Parts: sequence; structure tokens; C-alpha cells
Amino acid sequence: MKEKTLVLLKPDAVQRGIVGDIVSRFEHTGMKIVGLKMVRVTPEFSKKHYATHVNKPFYTGLEKFITEGPIIAMVLEGLHAVETVRKIVGSTEPKSAAPGTIRGDYSHHSYAYTDAHGIAIKNLIHASGTSEEAKTEVALWFTKEELHDYTTVHEKHVF
Ligand code: PPS
Repeated sequence: MKEKTLVLLKPDAVQRGIVGDIVSRFEHTGMKIVGLKMVRVTPEFSKKHYATHVNKPFYTGLEKFITEGPIIAMVLEGLHAVETVRKIVGSTEPKSAAPGTIRGDYSHHSYAYTDAHGIAIKNLIHASGTSEEAKTEVALWFTKEELHDYTTVHEKHVF
């Protein structure tokens, strides 16, 4: 049940100065940060990360967005981490994301607006969708040396 998942804080999160707020939300659940770095995504790397979306109509806007400034890449570890992180992050479209989720609380962007303007949805975060995807994405973004093993005080109350 213990697993790792990839979280990216996209350029809008970094440029808005809400990285600390977002990271806190994950930390408060007791999940453990086991990898963290600031990265500038290249168009080539974007195509690897979004391989399943490259041929979709919104991909051009998505690549422009993810490469426009530095992002924070993070690996979180915990019980059901993939599902837990997606629950905290909320629905892909901020307009539809529930209050209390990160996207619902920090953004209100909509597909109606982005589709009309040919831009990506500014939804602050990418989070792995499934356990399989998480394994692939963690390996794509982080080397073994960049992933850390330590004990948090929360673990006494989790395991
Ligand atoms: S998800 O959250 O991955 O399950 O969502 P999904 O719809 O499968 O993935 C779409 C990714 O493309 C980003 N994106 C858009 N999707 C749809 N329409 C528009 N206009 C659009 N612009 C960007 C969306 O945010 C998903 O990327 P990530 O990084 O996973 O959020």
C-alpha cells in the first residue's frame, strides 16, 4: 500500500509564489517528501512526460505552458499516495474542482476560456494518475540518487 507518486508544481504555481502553501497541504497529510527539485522543462522532455497527449489538439498550448518557466518536481511517499494526492489536488479543470482541493481553492480557470483562446488550462499541478503511471513518471524525473530514505515523526502514527 505504501507507494511513491510524482507531483509537479507548474510554472503558474511558481510564478504566483504559492509553492510553500501547496507543499504544506501535502506535508500536513503526513505523506513524506522523498525527492524535490526546481527544473526548467525543455520541449523534448515535455514530449516524453506528456507522451500520451502529444497528438491531442491542446498539446501545443500545454508544451508552451510547461516550458515557460521553472517548475518544482517532487516525489511524495505514503499509503495510497497516488489516490491521496489526486484527491487533494482536485479535478483537472479548476472551475469544476471542489472547494478544499488545491485547484478549487487557488484557481478558477475553465476549459471554455482555454479552448476559446488556444491556451493550456492553468491548473497549478500535475499528479500521477495511476500507480503504474507513478512508477514510470518517478523514474523519468528522478534518479535513484535523488530519492531519499528517512523516517518522519508521522510514521509512528501511520505504520
Ligand atoms: S489528468 O488530470 O491527467 O487525468 O487529465 P487528462 O485530461 O487525462 O490530461 C490532460 C492533460 O493535459 C492538460 N491540459 C489540458 N487538457 C484538456 N484540455 C485542455 N485545454 C488542456 N490544457 C492542458 C491537463 O492539465 C492534463 O495535464 P496534467 O499535467 O496531468 O494536469
